[in-house]
Amino acid sequence: MRIPDTKIDEILEQTDIYQLIDEVVPLKKAGNSYKGLCPFHTEKTPSFNVHPDKGYFHCFGCGEGGNSISFAMKYHNLSFPDAIIMLAERCGVTIEYDQNVSQDAKDIVALHEELILDSRKYLYSREGKKALDYLYERDFSDSLLEEFQVGYFPPRVDPDKYVRKYDKSVLLNSGLFKEGQYGLRLMFYDRVMIPVKGVTGKTIAFSGRTITDQQPKYINSPETEVFKKRRVLFNMDKAKGALRKMEYALVVEGYFDVMRLHENGYSNCVASMGTALTKEHIEILRRYTGDIYMLFDGDQAGYNSALKSLATFVESDTYPSVVFLPDGEDPDSFLSKHGKDGFDDLIGSKKDLFLFAAEVVIKKSKDFNAKLRGLDRIKELLMIIKSPYRKDYYAQKLAVMFQIDENTLRKDIDISAAKTRLRRTGESLEQNRDRRGVTYFCERDFLAALVQLPEDVSLMMTEKILPEFFNDKKMSDIYKKVLDVLQNGDNINVLLSTPDIAKELSPVIISDLNSDLYRMASASREKILANSVKDTMNRKIKDSADMDEKRRLLIEKFNAKKQTQVKTDPED
Ligand code: CTP
Ligand code: MN
Repeated sequence: MRIPDTKIDEILEQTDIYQLIDEVVPLKKAGNSYKGLCPFHTEKTPSFNVHPDKGYFHCFGCGEGGNSISFAMKYHNLSFPDAIIMLAERCGVTIEYDQNVSQDAKDIVALHEELILDSRKYLYSREGKKALDYLYERDFSDSLLEEFQVGYFPPRVDPDKYVRKYDKSVLLNSGLFKEGQYGLRLMFYDRVMIPVKGVTGKTIAFSGRTITDQQPKYINSPETEVFKKRRVLFNMDKAKGALRKMEYALVVEGYFDVMRLHENGYSNCVASMGTALTKEHIEILRRYTGDIYMLFDGDQAGYNSALKSLATFVESDTYPSVVFLPDGEDPDSFLSKHGKDGFDDLIGSKKDLFLFAAEVVIKKSKDFNAKLRGLDRIKELLMIIKSPYRKDYYAQKLAVMFQIDENTLRKDIDISAAKTRLRRTGESLEQNRDRRGVTYFCERDFLAALVQLPEDVSLMMTEKILPEFFNDKKMSDIYKKVLDVLQNGDNINVLLSTPDIAKELSPVIISDLNSDLYRMASASREKILANSVKDTMNRKIKDSADMDEKRRLLIEKFNAKKQTQVKTDPED
C-alpha cells in the first residue's frame, strides 16, 4: 500500500506529538520541551524528551527516538501504513490511497471480514450442525461464540464467489487461499474458525480447529505482512482496556482458554497461540501492565515451558508470576469444573517465576554437583537484573534455598559481572576497529541537517560528498538512503519514520544547539570533506612503498591539516 507523500507531511503537521504521547506517557513541561518516563525502557527518573516544535521525541536513557509516526509504530506495535492510518484518523486527515496497491490491502481486510460473516452463516447452517454441536458439547454459548466471531467452514467451500469478487493477488496474498489442482481453494477444511485480531481490532489472520481428529489440531494463516506470530497476542484488542484497570495480565496458551476466561470475567487474558512468549510479546504487554501472570499446565511440559521462558523475561527486565493448573487440566476445563471461585484460589497460589525456577533446579538435582551446575545458570540471570533491591532479594532467597553462604554468592556474582563487562568492552573495541576508526559527530550532524533543510538546499549540500567519506558504517548507509530520496524527489519524512533511522538522528534533531540548520550543514560538511582528505592521505601514505614518496605525502598532509585547522577542527 502506498500512501501519497503529501499526505504523510500533512499528517505529521497536523499531529501534535505532545498530545499523542501525553495520552499514554504522562509528560511534564521542562523549558521548551516536555519530559516523562520512557515507555521503551524501565526508568525512575525521566530521560524521555518530547519537542512539540520539532515534532520529535528522544530518550537519553535508551536512545529511542523519532517522529509521531515512528512513535506510533513502536508504541502501538503498528506497521508503517497502520501508523499512518491511526494518526490520520486522530487528526481528521482523509487518505485517498494510491490506486492498485492500496486497493489490494483494503481488499484483504474486506476479504477477512467477509469470510468471518460467511463462516458464521455456515456454523448456523445445516452443514455446520456437527461443528455447532461440538462447540455446544464443549459448553460454548451462542453469545460467547458471537463475541469472538467464531464460525465454521465445511469441507468444500466453493471459492467461485471470492474469485469473482477479488483479484487473484488479493486471495493469494491474504494467505487464506492456495493454488490447488483445480484452481484456488480455501485453506480451511471442515474446521471451526477463530478470527485473530491485531491490537487495533482488525482481523489479521484465522485459526481453524479441527472437529474430527484431523492433524494438525489447528491450522493458522501463514505469516503475512500484517500477521507476525511473534508480535501477536490473541485477544490483545479486547484485553488492552481491561489491562489498564485490572492489575495484571493473564497469559495462557490457547484460544478456547481465553474465551472461557473472558466469559468468567477475566477480560485481562491473552494467548501466545501455542508458541513461547517472545521479547516482543513482553514488550507489548508491558505497555499496559507491569504484572504478568503466566498460566501453565501442571505437568512436566508445563514446568519446562515455564523454565524456558525465564531468560526471555529477565532479559526484558520483567518478573512475572507463574500459576500451575492441576495435572491434566487446562484453564477451559478447570473453570468448567471449579468455576470462578476455584480459579481465583488458583491465581492466589501464584509463584514468582525466578524463585520457582530455582526450586525446580534444586528438586531436579540428584547431588551437590548438579545443584552447583544449576546455580551457575541461575547466577547468569541474577547478574543482569537491573534493580539492586531485586537482586539482593533473590540473592538472599537463593542462598537459603541452595544452602550456601550469601556473601560468597554475592562475591561470586560481582566477580562474574566484572569479567563479563571486561569481555563486552573488549568485543565492542574490536567492532569499532572494524569500522575504520572513531565516530565523528559531524557525520550525524550533517545527516540530521540534510533531513530537515528544504530538499533543494540539501541536494546542493550533498554535492562532492560520497558515502565512502563517512567513517561510521551506519551513517554511511543512512547517507546512501538520504541521497536516494533526495535524488528521486521522494519524501524524506518517510525515511525519517523508519524506526532505525529515526533513532540515530533524533538526538541531534531535538537538541536545541542546532537552531541554525544551514550553518550546521555547511560546517559538518566541511569537516566530513576534511576528514576524507585526511583519510585518503593516510591510506596513500600507508600503502606507498617508496620512502621518498611517503615523506612527500606526509608533508602534503601536514600542510592540508594546517589549512583546514584555520577554519575548523576536523576531528570533531
Ligand atoms: N496451536 C497451534 N497449532 C497446533 C497446536 C496448537 O497453533 N497444531 C496453538 C493454538 O493457539 C492452541 C495453543 O497452541 O490454542 C495450545 O495448544 P493445545 O493446548 O494443544 O490446544 P488447546 O488450546 O487446549 O485447544 P483445545 O482446547 O481445543 O484442545
Ligand atoms: Mn484445551
